[in-house]
Amino acid sequence: MKKILFLFSSVCIFIILATSCVPKAETADKQIQSLLIPAENFDTIVDGEPIELFTLKNPGGIAVQLTNYGATIVSVITPDSNGKYADIVLGYKEISSYLTDNMYLGCIVGPFANRIAKGKFELEGQEYHLDINNGENTLHSGKNTFAKKIWKAHQNNNSVSMTYEAKDLEAGFPGNVTATAIYTLKPDNSLELKITAVSDKKTVINLTNHAYFNLEGEGSGSILNEIIRINADAITPVDSALIPTGELMPVEGTPFDFRKDTAIAAGINNADNLQIKFGKGYDHNWVLNGNPGELKLAVKLVDPESKRYLELYTNQPGLQFYSGNFMDGSVTGKSGKKYNFRNALALEPQFFPDSPNQPGFPSTLLEPGMSYEHLTVYSFGVEK
Ligand code: GLA
Repeated sequence: MKKILFLFSSVCIFIILATSCVPKAETADKQIQSLLIPAENFDTIVDGEPIELFTLKNPGGIAVQLTNYGATIVSVITPDSNGKYADIVLGYKEISSYLTDNMYLGCIVGPFANRIAKGKFELEGQEYHLDINNGENTLHSGKNTFAKKIWKAHQNNNSVSMTYEAKDLEAGFPGNVTATAIYTLKPDNSLELKITAVSDKKTVINLTNHAYFNLEGEGSGSILNEIIRINADAITPVDSALIPTGELMPVEGTPFDFRKDTAIAAGINNADNLQIKFGKGYDHNWVLNGNPGELKLAVKLVDPESKRYLELYTNQPGLQFYSGNFMDGSVTGKSGKKYNFRNALALEPQFFPDSPNQPGFPSTLLEPGMSYEHLTVYSFGVEK
């Protein structure tokens, strides 16, 4: 009897071991496949230009999907600490929803990201007028934003290059501007984004990607338990319309101090803080420590549940951290779930908002013959 029992338990142990030894890469690839959006959902013509969905994959690693409509990140599919995959950026499963999107999900905003006070600025004695689309101000360059344009794209292995040529005064900004965004999925599972821009006239420029992250998976609920660290000693405080006052406010002793790992929940509802009141939570620009122009770790975000993390490195001087305070469930995402209040957060490396009207802020001037060079690296992993 003992012998039979021994034999039986040995067989069981063998079966358990054998099934847990199924090659990881295979199961990873199967999971990724089931989460990928089919290319045909984006295969269409808009304004006479072809739209495409591109897929970048590291076998057994992570996958990223991009579309040339708005040079947009559509999906980022990564494993948690148990090897279970999820898509951790917000997005839609078909192109039609991107055409009507007003949340800027995953796209590149420009030529000038964030707010410009009263929709105007002066350059060389001339006043330029922009589309007013956010109270009395301009947000993300108004209706002619790069986010709503069709970029010319081509894929080369694990890299997609997208170019958009803006006409002089198209969004109200001077200069024929050529912007190129190159997304590359690296073997170490990081996604590199290089953006360059040139202009034939003196202009201002500020480009960023507006991806929303939820490290537990898009549509999985609140991001308030995620832990954030931002390498910044100050923010640019704002007025009630989220326009910078021009000052720098040290984060020390405020709910904006993320120099150590802190749960987003800790200070987000601090009603005594005027800046939190104005932002309805976090919707501010952090002044990143380190030399502008140098690639540095700006943010680390960790989800204690799935143990997924995101490290964001950038050469930009600022970072807009927006905690999804305007999200209201009016939009349904790619897996059929509604995107509710604070169900995701955006991390937007950029120059400071309203820089063209703020002489004290780093300059966003772009002159003919110069090249604007933006580098951001999103590094994905799981905590041990
Ligand atoms: C930026 C702004 C936010 C909000 C989002 C888009 O992040 O700072 O106030 O407008 O874009 O919804």
